[in-house]
Amino acid sequence: MTDRAVLAGSAYRDERDLVARQSLYRWQHPSHDLPGLVVDHLRDVRGTVVDVGCGNGKFVRRLHRDRPDLRVLGLDISPGILDGLPRPVAVADAERLPLGSGSAGAVLALHMLYHVGDIPRAVGELARVVSDSGVVIASTNSEHDKSELDRLWQRAAADVLGVARGPSRISLSARFSLEKAPDHLGAAFGTVDVIELPGVIEVPTPEPVVAHLASYRAWAVQHGVPFDATVERAQMLVERHIEQHGAFEINALGGLLICSK
Ligand SMILES: C[S@@+](CC[C@H](N)C(=O)[O-])C[C@H]1O[C@@H](n2cnc3c(N)ncnc32)[C@H](O)[C@@H]1O
Repeated sequence: MTDRAVLAGSAYRDERDLVARQSLYRWQHPSHDLPGLVVDHLRDVRGTVVDVGCGNGKFVRRLHRDRPDLRVLGLDISPGILDGLPRPVAVADAERLPLGSGSAGAVLALHMLYHVGDIPRAVGELARVVSDSGVVIASTNSEHDKSELDRLWQRAAADVLGVARGPSRISLSARFSLEKAPDHLGAAFGTVDVIELPGVIEVPTPEPVVAHLASYRAWAVQHGVPFDATVERAQMLVERHIEQHGAFEINALGGLLICSK
């Protein structure tokens, strides 16, 4: 999950797998406009906003559109995922930000701190780079987020292996979950406000669920089960579930963390 070669060379080499995970939220109710919420929290910010681990630029593009007065800089460890993003962007590591102390009015670290090897060091970098009156916004998922997908994977893996209980699906956000994040961020910031964003994702066809499971391909070997066979088995289980119940229901819980010094 933190291996830079896997992150830049496989998991986020391009936006394909990230889009598969982002797309699932299309079926969430209530839906949360995360870029819109971030823009709202930047209303008093002037100058430079740095999006660390900006990925395929969901937030960078929205800031360019809604806040043309800001200088927006997208940074990511993967050169490939920065293709096509509005400039300026740069390849950079959250643990060593190539920016002066206090140089940004705001810094974003959205759904990315769980990928960083040394989380305290990266949090220290966010605090160093933001101005004294600035804001840092992080986001992540709860330990309980999408537990239906965990159970689906375990069932499919058990069937593939012919055992009663299959190995767990890896959790991307566990290292920096919504439950752990306030302590991590509280080490560098005086105030950390948590905004929980719960919802139910009701998917009417198997494809988005299967695409989400398959988007973990970069970490296939860590699953301890033949990856493709497990995805295939999961597809059959989801098809059967949707035939019986009309939809596959997933409980999602993510959140934003608004930090100031
Ligand atoms: C789950 S994606 C989130 C993308 C975007 N922030 C969003 O919320 O849509 C995580 C991103 O963080 C990047 N990343 C992972 N480790 C990083 C690091 N140490 N420094 C900078 N970026 C990193 C990945 O390449 C990937 O694009």
